[in-house]
Amino acid sequence: MTATSVSLKGKHLLTLADLTKDEIMQIILDAIKLKELQKKGETHHYLKGKTLAMIFEKLSTRTRVSFETGMFQLGGHALFLGKDDLQMGRGETVEDTAKVLSRFVDGIMIRAYSHESVVQLANNSDVPVINGLTDDYHPCQVLADLMTLYEAKGNLEGKKLAYVGDGNNMAHSLMIGCAKLGVSCSIAAPKGYEPKQAIVERAQEFAKESGAVIEVTNDPKVAANGADAVYTDVWTSMGWEAEQEERLKAFADFQVNSELMAEADSEAVFLHCLPAHRGEEVSAEVIDGPQSLVFDEAENRLHAQKALMVALMAD
Ligand code: CP
Ligand code: NVA
Repeated sequence: MTATSVSLKGKHLLTLADLTKDEIMQIILDAIKLKELQKKGETHHYLKGKTLAMIFEKLSTRTRVSFETGMFQLGGHALFLGKDDLQMGRGETVEDTAKVLSRFVDGIMIRAYSHESVVQLANNSDVPVINGLTDDYHPCQVLADLMTLYEAKGNLEGKKLAYVGDGNNMAHSLMIGCAKLGVSCSIAAPKGYEPKQAIVERAQEFAKESGAVIEVTNDPKVAANGADAVYTDVWTSMGWEAEQEERLKAFADFQVNSELMAEADSEAVFLHCLPAHRGEEVSAEVIDGPQSLVFDEAENRLHAQKALMVALMAD
């Protein structure tokens, strides 16, 4: 078996806008194959001898563990670099950091505040750069989300995903990923917390090609109506902690609970990137109930990112 059927050699993954519809779909199919190999206990050392540097300016459970475990399972090695581990924290430039790391490692995964600094890192890197979350995007999460939806429903085209909550990095990446793959995406956010207009318009451009509908509303019921998946995320993302009190008030009517799930298709699934706050953005009965796929979704981070890393980093 060749490593995977899609090659992204010479590319970075900063947002899903960087990939074509076929490339995204192929990553999902490759991830499903890698998942089978791992479950059967078959060796799949497609990145033998390769090293991934993982830079974390923000905290993480899933991203760190899934990338590090994924590299190990692929026969490679991952290097954890927290915010106090690099000279970048003392003023070394992003450009120099990118050039130096490129001499040592075969790929760089970065979780950062500023999306622009990740773009700058990629522009100065000779090795692939993977966005592991910025204030604006979380593309690796959406690869796992779409994989989970594909596994649950058997296909993606023509499906509808409702995202209820903050118009944040998750909302942005979901709109782009869904638009590329022909999944309609309806975002319900409180006034003042809608996704960035430029990103909505970008997603709508992609949607013109795929036939998806990308819309933003302030009414959770409108978004959830007939949806095949209902998605939410924390009301206060990393970096916005100072706004927590006012956000609790602003988002009070945006909880995903049984009443809202009843607006969706009767077979609808519930998704959440995690970490979750039960009693805030989602009720315990929904996230811990039969429609919830959140732990399959978390597991799929491992498989989707392995497929992505092989596509970007294999010889
Ligand atoms: N969903 C996600 O990215 O989780 P972590 O913040 O734990 O990595
Ligand atoms: N929107 C959340 C996602 C965490 C995985 C945050 O940025 O904190």
